[in-house]
Amino acid sequence: HPFSTIRVERKGRAALITLDRPKALNALNLQMMDEVVAAAEALDRDPDTGCIVVTGSARAFAAGADIGEMRPQSYMDMYGADWFAGWDRFAAVRTPTVAAVAGYALGGGCELAMMCDILLAADTATFGQPEIKLGVIPGIGGSQRLTRAVGKAKAMELCLTGRTMDAEEAERAGLVSRIVPAGDLLTEALAVAETVASMSAPVAMMAKEAVNRAFETTLTEGVRFERRVFHAVFATADQKEGMTAFTEKRPPEFTHR
Ligand code: HXC
Repeated sequence: HPFSTIRVERKGRAALITLDRPKALNALNLQMMDEVVAAAEALDRDPDTGCIVVTGSARAFAAGADIGEMRPQSYMDMYGADWFAGWDRFAAVRTPTVAAVAGYALGGGCELAMMCDILLAADTATFGQPEIKLGVIPGIGGSQRLTRAVGKAKAMELCLTGRTMDAEEAERAGLVSRIVPAGDLLTEALAVAETVASMSAPVAMMAKEAVNRAFETTLTEGVRFERRVFHAVFATADQKEGMTAFTEKRPPEFTHR
């Protein structure tokens, strides 16, 4: 395929996007942003994709946005190109996504991981928003998503000092759902993805949408949204199949309709 900074593989109904600029610790340059977003959107449109895993290398998920590329830019370059706005399209993907993080997830790397729906960390993972040390601030949602994930106390400390968190601290703080031994990370991430992908695709998308609504609205409105979507799942064939299969004591065969 046409990508040069990432690799894309299919694993049944799961798909794997591997960030692949190892010499730069997977620093996220504009080309990589374009490729990740294009790959994720193409997979999202493909009805045979039920879950997308994003991973890096053993040493780095991604060590941030590409500093060399950003360094010479002016305000008007940044504003005119709406630098990093492309990442919003990754966050808007409807198919569930899993970040499988080993090694450094710093700056934009941490932000990309936080844009994914499920965040699995290897015991080698390091998370942080060290932008302040470069004289800048997070620019792909880190100040918002980290604060929502771990609360003001840790988010402020990380964003103001550039201190990083190891996997244990990230799990205690609620940033990651689980820590796995580094050697098992990809296997575990693909197992999670295959599990998600085995569910009804439209219903999984609705579940994702409902959870994400919690970050956008009040409790009353969020519960109301959930109730409307809950009613709507009864229009799917998969609801009938799921509940019939339970009644007949057999595994469901979802048709993703
Ligand atoms: C460009 C990067 C990079 C980055 C690493 N590299 N991070 N290149 N952008 N973000 C390159 C290095 O220049 C080096 O290239 C190679 O990767 C290996 O890195 P080393 O520093 O030699 O490795 P090591 O000593 O092991 O240190 C690893 C590290 C360090 C602690 C992760 O690389 C580091 O601090 N990186 C920057 C982390 C960071 O500040 N991230 C936030 C970026 S800003 P050469 O060619 O020398 O071998 C950001 C903001 C987003 O993400 C939005 C706001 C603007």
